[in-house]
Amino acid sequence: SAFNYDQPYRGQYHFSPKEHWMNDPNGLLYHDETYHLFFQYNPGGIQWGNMSWGHATSKDLTHWEEQPIALLARGYGGNVTEMYFSGSAVVDVDNTSGFGKDGKIPLVAMYTSYYPVAQTLPSGKYIQENQQAQSIAYSLDHGISWTTYDAANPVIYQPPTPYQEQYQNFRDPFVFWHEESRKWVVVTSLAALHKLAIYTSENLKDWKLASEFGPYNAQGGVWECPGLFQLPLDKGKSMKWVITSGINPGGPPGTVGSGTQYFVGEFNGATFTPDDDSVYPGNATANWMDWGPDFYASAGYNGLTADDFVQIGWMNNWQYGTNIPTTPWRSAMSIPRHLSLKTIGAKALLIQQPQEAWSSIVKKHPAYSHTYKNIPKGSVDVGITGETIKLDLSFSAASSASKFAIAVRASADFTEQTLVGYDFVNKEIFIDRTKSGDVSFDTTFASVYRGPLAPGNDGMVKLTIFVDRSSVEVFGGHGETTLTAQIFPSSDALHARLVSTGGATKKVDLNVYNVASTWI
Ligand code: FRU
Repeated sequence: SAFNYDQPYRGQYHFSPKEHWMNDPNGLLYHDETYHLFFQYNPGGIQWGNMSWGHATSKDLTHWEEQPIALLARGYGGNVTEMYFSGSAVVDVDNTSGFGKDGKIPLVAMYTSYYPVAQTLPSGKYIQENQQAQSIAYSLDHGISWTTYDAANPVIYQPPTPYQEQYQNFRDPFVFWHEESRKWVVVTSLAALHKLAIYTSENLKDWKLASEFGPYNAQGGVWECPGLFQLPLDKGKSMKWVITSGINPGGPPGTVGSGTQYFVGEFNGATFTPDDDSVYPGNATANWMDWGPDFYASAGYNGLTADDFVQIGWMNNWQYGTNIPTTPWRSAMSIPRHLSLKTIGAKALLIQQPQEAWSSIVKKHPAYSHTYKNIPKGSVDVGITGETIKLDLSFSAASSASKFAIAVRASADFTEQTLVGYDFVNKEIFIDRTKSGDVSFDTTFASVYRGPLAPGNDGMVKLTIFVDRSSVEVFGGHGETTLTAQIFPSSDALHARLVSTGGATKKVDLNVYNVASTWI
């Protein structure tokens, strides 16, 4: 690429826009051998505003090319009368919408129209100030240019009865084709009520309310950006359905701000019924998709099979997202994650694994590889690692240490470092970013995050850790526990060491691989 992606803190293998503000991934669609990634975007600044749909494409979910803006806020440059909030996209193969022409199959996007001012639309519909409603647009040129359906937008004008007064908190449609009932299904959020509303349609234009879901489990903030999809359980022995939902604030314990929870259950084309063990009486806890602070608004790809299902999250947090020290852009996307379900401890858990064309960017031979029978209490130097690395770390759960961690992106004297490790006492993975570099822009940023992980049946704890210029993503065990955290380390903080606390850690195996930039 001609653009220089070499700025400090610029993720080298995570998508970020060249410049300006980005939030949620939108309209994730695999079509015609191309992965589309649309995203909430401010074309005019590095703060949230003028919300439009930016666009990037990829052939392998690894190398991304930014495309022209897909949906530009109406009135941009003057008085904005409509912003394009989060949503999704489908290929309307049978042209149910009638938007197809001359044999061209339409791509249809469904999004939230946010109207900052009261107005009467071309469709004749009267819109109140700050109303949010669901609209559609189509593309006949592979997602490059889009035409909004002005004759009838918004196609879902207001929240269902009796929640009409929630018209300022009704958003984020995730639409998909439900093969068994041969209908389109869309899940939207009644954000302030911690509820989801599910609708069905035959043509993507006329929508009928089918059911409501929630509130359940975490309800500390608004529910946003829901997802609904089917996944194989235990490698395809059966299929289950999953709902994901962003919550902000009120994320995982120990975080401040945004998080993503999930529910496992059944869906019959109209109603989602959660499994008994997926909802907690008294909302005691929640199933967190990621236990770190920086994984939000996660969305899934349409156009892939249930075996291949991939999601991408916004690797930021509303608590401090608009203040992170990057320029001339703000925010990056997570590594794409492959999703499935696995029975662990009698419960169906979401399993996530990194899904990128890794072989092309991860060096074949580890830059550092070592097996230790025993790491005594204290630390072992690993030397200098790169800024962009993948680490495979495993060790025995039967260790006398209370904690074991690897310090990455550390200064030579380890006054600056990010610790990624395991707490043997509480059986938790942790990321400690209290000394991770620049933590000054928000008082809550310098914190420790924890997610539960039982050792594997082989008695080992396994962590796969992705470090980029401004992020750490940890996949634990089979991928049943993940933690994602941004960090803003000094560019010369490249040291690493293993740290065993309170005793020795046994059977330690470490492989560190350099990861190449995907921007070149
Ligand atoms: C979530 C969110 C969505 C909304 C979008 C606006 O991050 O608040 O609910 O559609 O951002 O940019």
